[in-house]
This record gives sequence, C-alpha cells and structure tokens, in this order.
Amino acid sequence: MKMLYVDCCISQRGPESRTRALAGAFLSAFRESHPGAETETVSLETMDLKPLLPDFLNRRDALKGRKAFGGPEYALARQFQAADAVAVAAPFWDLSFPSVLRIYIEHISAIGLTYHYEADGCHGDCKARRLAYLSTGGDVEQAENLGVLYWKQLCAMFGIPRFDHVFAGGLDLDPGRVPALMEAACEGARQLGREF
Ligand SMILES: Cc1cc2nc3c(=O)[nH]c(=O)nc-3n(C[C@H](O)[C@H](O)[C@H](O)COP(=O)(O)O)c2cc1C
Repeated sequence: MKMLYVDCCISQRGPESRTRALAGAFLSAFRESHPGAETETVSLETMDLKPLLPDFLNRRDALKGRKAFGGPEYALARQFQAADAVAVAAPFWDLSFPSVLRIYIEHISAIGLTYHYEADGCHGDCKARRLAYLSTGGDVEQAENLGVLYWKQLCAMFGIPRFDHVFAGGLDLDPGRVPALMEAACEGARQLGREF
C-alpha cells in the first residue's frame, strides 16, 4: 500500500508548526498500524511549483491528445492518481489554504489521467480509496470551512470515495488553551491514522 503525503505545512513556526504536529500525529499512528505501507511525501514548500499558464497548458493538451502521460508535465498527476491513500496537511490561510496548494491542485487536475468527462459529467480516475485533510486555524472552525469543502469536492471529482478531515481550530484566540486544543485534535488525527 502506498500513502501519498502532501506536505503543505508552510509556517513561520518552523518545526513548531501546529499543522506539522497534527500531520505528524496522523502519520505516526498510520505507520504504526500499517507497518508494510510505504509513505511518499510531496513537500510543497521546496518545490517551486509554477501556476499553469498558456504555454504549459498547450504542451499538456498536446500530450493528452496522444495519451502521452509519461513525461514531467504529468509527474504530480501520475503520482496522485496511483496512490492507494492520500493525506494532505495545510494551515487555514485566508479562508482556505496557502496558494502553493492551489497550484499543486492545478497540476494534479489532469483530464484523461485523474478524471475524465462523459455525457453525464465528470468521473474520477484516481486509485485512492480515501483522503484525509489535516488543518489548523487561528479562529474556531466555521460550518463551511472552505479548505475542507474544497478537498471534499476534489475527492468527488477524482473518484476518491471517502473523505475525512481533522481541524484544530481556535489556536490564535487564547494561548492558554492551545495545548488542550492541539491534544484533542492530535488524538482525533491519531484515531484516523490508525483506522485509515
Ligand atoms: C498568511 C496567514 C493567513 C491566515 N489566515 C487565517 C484565516 O483566514 N483564518 C484563520 O482562522 N486563521 C488564519 N491564520 C492563522 C493560522 O491558520 C493559524 O495560526 C495556524 O494554526 C497556523 O499553523 P502553523 O502553526 O502550522 O503555522 C492565518 C495565518 C497566516 C500566517
């Protein structure tokens, strides 16, 4: 089994990042309960991903026309498509997540590889059976957290049947409550990781 970990834990706190701690709780529990699983990590902070612009799109469309998905243009989409399970970790920024994660989504949203259209609409072609979205935010979680909704709808588009999320909210409101809020969220992440 191959787990793809999409690491978007961009933080001024460096190794003290709360989002990284939440992701770490999930991944440690996952690895403990799935000793045979392989985890492949995509680190978005260091990748220098470029947004999709017309030249790149034209190149990608030409390749798609020949069903030539083997090159670097489709590397991230191929990796995402082939994963058995996916975990994405990102802080809650500006009501969703850091823009580099949006750019990553542009790269993995590849018609003909991760999804396709039929007369009745969009059908997903990804192998993963589930995806976990792990996030932390300064404010308490809103009912329609856009980061969560976005990944939930992406799962539907990619054909990933099960979506779960853990959100550690309210972390910038009262510093005294942060350890308890984080511990509760990390426990939720550990439970999810164990049964993932
Ligand atoms: C650029 C930026 C944008 C943010 N936007 C929001 C926001 O829209 N809503 C919110 O509740 N918190 C927001 N926050 C607070 C972070 O979500 C919060 O501090 C989070 O726990 C940071 O995680 P970290 O410790 O991994 O850096 C923002 C923080 C930064 C740096």
